[in-house]
Amino acid sequence: MNEALEIRDVDSVAGSDLLDLYASVEWGAYTKDPKALATAIANSTYVVEARVAGVLIGLARGLSDDASVFYLQDILVRPEWQRQGVGTALLQRCLKRFSHVRQKVLLTDDLPAQHEFYESLGFRNTRHITEVELHAFVQIEGL
Ligand SMILES: CC(C)(COP(=O)(O)OP(=O)(O)OC[C@H]1O[C@@H](n2cnc3c(N)ncnc32)[C@H](O)[C@@H]1OP(=O)(O)O)[C@@H](O)C(=O)NCCC(=O)NCCS
Repeated sequence: MNEALEIRDVDSVAGSDLLDLYASVEWGAYTKDPKALATAIANSTYVVEARVAGVLIGLARGLSDDASVFYLQDILVRPEWQRQGVGTALLQRCLKRFSHVRQKVLLTDDLPAQHEFYESLGFRNTRHITEVELHAFVQIEGL
């Protein structure tokens, strides 16, 4: 990476920057409703962004009670910037901010790349945990 990568905590992100980033990874559920996306960012407990030369190239956001749980809801990096450590830098910052919180949780698809990414940062797939039987239950519209 030649240009300087800037990673920082933010309270808000311009709507056009958000739409551009989320569209780059084809997250249509968000981009079809820009107002809901703006609300989701504004009401997240923690938002960290990555920029290069002012351009938003990545973002992670999560929800937390700041005591017992941190839930990572989104992490995304523009395709042309992937596999260069940006996702790691974003998630490490989340983990540092919530290092005092015992339970860090996320849901992800059945894609080996995503599994490798989360495993590289210390997350364990509940399917592979043998010490205890752990099950995740969700209600997701449309499923
Ligand atoms: C998942 C995502 C955020 C990872 O960000 P990234 O900046 O590319 O990740 P990093 O460069 O920090 O990768 C760290 C490690 O994760 C693993 N990893 C990341 N992408 C991978 C891929 N495509 N295939 C295999 N392993 C991968 C590797 O172990 C990698 O280390 P290495 O490059 O030294 O081998 C990014 O691929 C992305 O935005 N994907 C689209 C959106 C998405 O699916 N988000 C997650 C939703 S649950």
